[in-house]
Amino acid sequence: MVTESVLMDEEIRAQEAAMLDDIAAELARFGQERRNLIPILQMIQARHAYLAPEALEMVASHLGIARCEVYGVATFYNQFRFHPPGKHQIRVCLGTACHVGGGEIILENFERKLQINEGETSPDREFSLDRVACVGCCALAPVAVVDEEVHGHVAPSKVEGLILGFQIEKEKEERESREDGGPE
Ligand code: FES
Repeated sequence: MVTESVLMDEEIRAQEAAMLDDIAAELARFGQERRNLIPILQMIQARHAYLAPEALEMVASHLGIARCEVYGVATFYNQFRFHPPGKHQIRVCLGTACHVGGGEIILENFERKLQINEGETSPDREFSLDRVACVGCCALAPVAVVDEEVHGHVAPSKVEGLILGFQIEKEKEERESREDGGPE
């Protein structure tokens, strides 16, 4: 029997293959001059929300420059992501008020609970975790923004509850899909 996790891996691989095909097709629209590097990176980020290592490789080969040069330019600008966004995006504010209010501890709790570091995405792509600068509600510090919903006065104990809520929701969806005769 094919397990759900194998199905999920296959789905992720299929998505990645489709993404690389799309990038290859789009790259053909750009000339091979080095000045196209940033517009190309912006195009990939806009279409796929992150720059995968294979995508950077393709860009380097299209422009005939070293991969480390592509990577160096991409990491210089913080508009670019290097991990796919999770289904649930968690952003922990580390602006001054939130930092003073214990934002680092909240971020560490998310990292521990999700077993990823900030800037990363969980292997099942359910969660991505990022630190952000002030989100404009300092009176609620420390603040975490989860899927556009602002959570204020986040206590370390609240982190586990937030993640658990999503996990319960996911299990429920999987159960319903099995009952509806989804893949086994
Ligand atoms: S510093 Fe976190 S909301 Fe302002």
